[in-house]
Amino acid sequence: MEPKAIDWDQLHVIIDKHRYQKWGLIPLLQEVQEVFGYIPPASIEPIARAMKMFPTCIQGVITFYAGFSLKPKGRYVIRVCRGTACHVKGGRSILRMMKKELELEEGETSPDYQFTLETVACLGACFLAPTMMVNKNYYGKLTPPKVISILNQYRKPKPTESSSPAKEADDGR
Ligand code: FES
Repeated sequence: MEPKAIDWDQLHVIIDKHRYQKWGLIPLLQEVQEVFGYIPPASIEPIARAMKMFPTCIQGVITFYAGFSLKPKGRYVIRVCRGTACHVKGGRSILRMMKKELELEEGETSPDYQFTLETVACLGACFLAPTMMVNKNYYGKLTPPKVISILNQYRKPKPTESSSPAKEADDGR
């Protein structure tokens, strides 16, 4: 899968919706992130013009919030918790295993744009430690076999396999 191409018409529709509303910058960026999976660096200039702000301010906001990214991410963004509760329940070995399985380091995206691997300070579900998320889906009480089974739901099907329910549920990204 290639990163989604920028549809400039669609981008300008989003920008026009929030034009000149300085309070609308975050919703605008959230919408761009949602639609394109990232905030294309080339969009900073037109966004800045529409908001009557300096491009460096827009860039500063994007880099401040972890939810925004200037780089295309994979179809499935995996967030492994590295918080204390997860750490004491074996979260470190889950992360190590995830890196090995996906052949990715933290912050990396697979060359086919299927997966991005990230870590977070806490997923807010400590009672389920160790935890992770795949896009908007939570997974808890992780064990190595459970991790393998979850990953298998999101891996690209081999040519002879049909697509899994998890794939179909998340296909709208
Ligand atoms: S520490 Fe992992 S969910 Fe809170």
